[in-house]
Amino acid sequence: MEPERKLIHAFGALAELGQEVINKNSFQETIRTSLHLISGAVGIMRGGIARYSKFAHELNMLAVRALGDDFPLTMNLTAEDERQFLTAGMTPIEVSQAQVLPFFQVYNSSLEGRRLELFVPLVVRDEIVGAIFLGEKATGEPYSSYDKDVVCAMGQHIGVAISQRNLMAEIERRADENRHLFEEMRSTYHDTVRAFAAAIDCKDKYTEGHSVRVGKFSEIIAAELGWGPEETEGAAVAGYLHDVGKLTVERKIINAPYRINAKESSELNKHPSVGYEILQPIHHPYTDVPLAAKYHHERLDGRGYPDGLYDREIPYIAKIVNLADSFDAMTTDRPYKARRPAHAVIEDLHRNTGKQFSPELTTAFLSGMLRELKGEDRTKRFRRLLGREYMEAEGLADKLRYTLNEMAPTTPMTYVAAAASLGDQTTILQLPIN
Ligand SMILES: [Fe+2]
Repeated sequence: MEPERKLIHAFGALAELGQEVINKNSFQETIRTSLHLISGAVGIMRGGIARYSKFAHELNMLAVRALGDDFPLTMNLTAEDERQFLTAGMTPIEVSQAQVLPFFQVYNSSLEGRRLELFVPLVVRDEIVGAIFLGEKATGEPYSSYDKDVVCAMGQHIGVAISQRNLMAEIERRADENRHLFEEMRSTYHDTVRAFAAAIDCKDKYTEGHSVRVGKFSEIIAAELGWGPEETEGAAVAGYLHDVGKLTVERKIINAPYRINAKESSELNKHPSVGYEILQPIHHPYTDVPLAAKYHHERLDGRGYPDGLYDREIPYIAKIVNLADSFDAMTTDRPYKARRPAHAVIEDLHRNTGKQFSPELTTAFLSGMLRELKGEDRTKRFRRLLGREYMEAEGLADKLRYTLNEMAPTTPMTYVAAAASLGDQTTILQLPIN
């Protein structure tokens, strides 16, 4: 080939290689194409490209061309080899001239046997990232300094591609590590909160497991509202910790087997504010846990405590915990009051929706219960918390359907009922069926 044409050819291959490295092809693909381009540029039949693992101190072949099946795919470098390669930088080494180095002594038969003439360590930012092995030229001529320049220029690109890949692998590894750490922290946080909830419940022998159940009911409400996993977990935590302030209330008031008097009641009623003080200095991810504790006894109609807030003034999370808390109080035995049957509890929730409870929250909660009864939700969340028998109360699903319809009187079901009572068949047929 004439020098000009050779130059143009090499330049074209180099440009193509640069493009290949930028392209979003798979790494393996990039290396295979690189070997192809470099072989074409210098005119060789045999060669290979290896990646260097600095931890294992070994070269691993990524792409080979006509090297045969028994060519070693992994080759070790000694500290001496590494030192020499790093000192020389990206300089092509004639295999026949390099017998002083341990690498060439150890792998001499493999290299010479395949008539590999040139070895180019790929050095990027003072690190060995790989190597190129080149066989004898098709013309039989020795490598000229021009060939070596071309090989080095192309080696730069390949080295960068490998180095980039190493960097990506390192980032992925660290991201994995971080994800793992984060998961660990998250589960530690969750376990700590659960342990704390159990500690709160210990003080109150009559309402064993109350905080844990309020946590779970709050979680159900959040999930039914379509909240994401983190916010839902936040709602659970708010439920677990809502009564933390009770830790400072005298045990005999909490455990009183009678209705407590006014003085005792005012003592007990301090627990939301105390809970807020306890939780406020701690950073809670996902939701405002301290505010949930402070306002979980507020009501939409302003008749709650401690501040007598009205509807929109009450933090949303506190409304959720309030519903979960009230529901658990009604569905568990208390010292002065037995657990109420499911129908009565639903009626109570219905009656107090708009007064104490937010309609959308009651709707979400009861819808969740109905979905479980209909078998659409197989997690058995309610069954586990309330017991199988309780959930099998006769006509419970109908009761829930009726109540939900009453609370949201614009659902198609109401239209169907209204239209049917007017005897208007056409209207009924036009209604969406769901
Ligand atoms: Fe409370």
